[in-house]
Amino acid sequence: MIYPIKNNDPALSENAIRLLQSRYLRKGVDGLSLETPDDMFRRVAKAVAQAELSWGGLQEVKQWEDAFYTTMRHLFFLPNSPTLMNAGTTANQLSACFVLPIQDSLENIFDMLKWTALIQQSGGGTGFNFSNLRPKDAYLNKTSGTASGPLSFIKIFDAATEYIKQGGKRRGANMGILSITHPDIEVFITSKQSNGVLRNFNLSVDITDDFMKAVENDLSWQLVHPMSQQGERKIAARTLWDLIAQCTWASGDPGLLFLDTINKYNPTPSIGLIDSTNPCGEVPLLPYESCTLGSLNLPKFILNTKSSREFNWNLLTETIKTAIRFLDDCVEINNYPMPEIKKMAYANRKIGLGVMGWADALGMLSIPYDSEEAVKLAERLMKFIQEQSHETSRHLADQRGAFNNWKDSIYAPDYPIRNATCTSIAPTGSISIIANTSASIEPWFGLAYQRKHVLNDETLPEINSVLKEHFQTYYPESHAILEEILLSGSLKNLALPTETRRLFKTSLEIAPIWHIRHQAAFQHFTDNAVSKTINIPESSSVADIKELYWTAWKMQLKGVTIFRDKCKPSPISQGLSAH
Ligand code: CDP
Repeated sequence: MIYPIKNNDPALSENAIRLLQSRYLRKGVDGLSLETPDDMFRRVAKAVAQAELSWGGLQEVKQWEDAFYTTMRHLFFLPNSPTLMNAGTTANQLSACFVLPIQDSLENIFDMLKWTALIQQSGGGTGFNFSNLRPKDAYLNKTSGTASGPLSFIKIFDAATEYIKQGGKRRGANMGILSITHPDIEVFITSKQSNGVLRNFNLSVDITDDFMKAVENDLSWQLVHPMSQQGERKIAARTLWDLIAQCTWASGDPGLLFLDTINKYNPTPSIGLIDSTNPCGEVPLLPYESCTLGSLNLPKFILNTKSSREFNWNLLTETIKTAIRFLDDCVEINNYPMPEIKKMAYANRKIGLGVMGWADALGMLSIPYDSEEAVKLAERLMKFIQEQSHETSRHLADQRGAFNNWKDSIYAPDYPIRNATCTSIAPTGSISIIANTSASIEPWFGLAYQRKHVLNDETLPEINSVLKEHFQTYYPESHAILEEILLSGSLKNLALPTETRRLFKTSLEIAPIWHIRHQAAFQHFTDNAVSKTINIPESSSVADIKELYWTAWKMQLKGVTIFRDKCKPSPISQGLSAH
């Protein structure tokens, strides 16, 4: 009904098929797949379209089932992995992102540990702020003993995650947060310095604007007991700032979360302050909130005419309409792991539509990642996606009603909308492999990579497809050039024009400020947040990291993750596909 597409389902890449077979397709007890990739897309479309029954008849259900199927099967849009894996199965848990509250009682902590296990088993990732816990060695009334502190409990959550595979398919992921005012903050900042420690956690320090000003003015910083709210030690703000930057330099952890900025854009401030995000940082959530994500596959929207290449804004509009409806339907049919989570899901109906394949799209448009043109296009594109998403959500509100908390939200009274948030930029670690495109808004990490052959497991080098097409189009000697790139994995030894070299710069060749500028460009038009790794060269200094952190705060990012090349094996957000 919506797409101008006939019966010409595109082929999926070999890598996509391998991944789908190993983790997404339903399997029998003998381990053999019970469905094909086409069956999987049909299963998901059918299950999600059942939500339409609440407002329409069987005809609408079938109509939307077909639209959902086509948009996924043509790889225009893919939902997050739990939806692909679980929709229409007995699990039917569709969200990738959850936040649970941690209170200062053993009973609450172990209740949350149980719910964490169940959420992760169902395919979701969990985020927690541990700042309410009393510091290590604080007095305990019940036992007259002393507390073991937030870090000891983070270790328990980490150990539990180690043994729970998400949906039996991949290891779980967590976000652990501690406030910059917590007395145990130094132990937290330094806790991931040895390899392998807390490997199922990303850690972020919750940084306030006041702290940044204290750093700027070289003031002392007051640490505060989370329960009594009484001042404990004071420490120079710059000492903490140095420690954070040094630890990030050495291990990639911790990252920063700017909770003042997050709360400035909190759509339901009267319901509560946001103090946490999901594991990779793209969704700030209230306690017990969850979010289902989905991503538009950008290269599919590039119109390739002889004279120019442009986005196909019409196709993009139609796909956004379908995707937002799909995600809102997911809120409706989702099998929530806890009653509190179900209540919050209906109360705010947060969803997160984002993008993948940004680097590939820029390459196809011959726009270098490190250029003003790319940043401008990022803003234009995301503004468009944001506007169309809101338009669709408003339309759904007319038909289905606004989210339950709408009257208490920043949108009331003039702007009825179905979803408290509509957009989010996820890492797309796995779904970008299914879509055969570059991940999220990240630049290319390499230009040639190793690929295992589906049938005989032989490893073959393969070249980035955008680069291949570029050379085949513009270089008569492309065969020899491509051979050389396959051998060396780079353009280094080739005599090529400067523009070509610039176009095919990889992540570490791009000056770090461009990473931040892309994150900011997308963030400024995204309701939730942007998951991005600021990859910097091994030779970067601690001072470089401080400057990047500072710029990220000034540019109103909601959080930032910096990873210095080779400082340790890839962080969770980069290594997702390997899990
Ligand atoms: O590509 P895919 O849909 O599998 O996921 P992603 O975009 O790389 O990650 C989205 C979110 O899924 C993360 O921020 C986590 O909340 C969650 N996730 C997880 O819980 N465990 C993983 N191993 C990977 C992702």
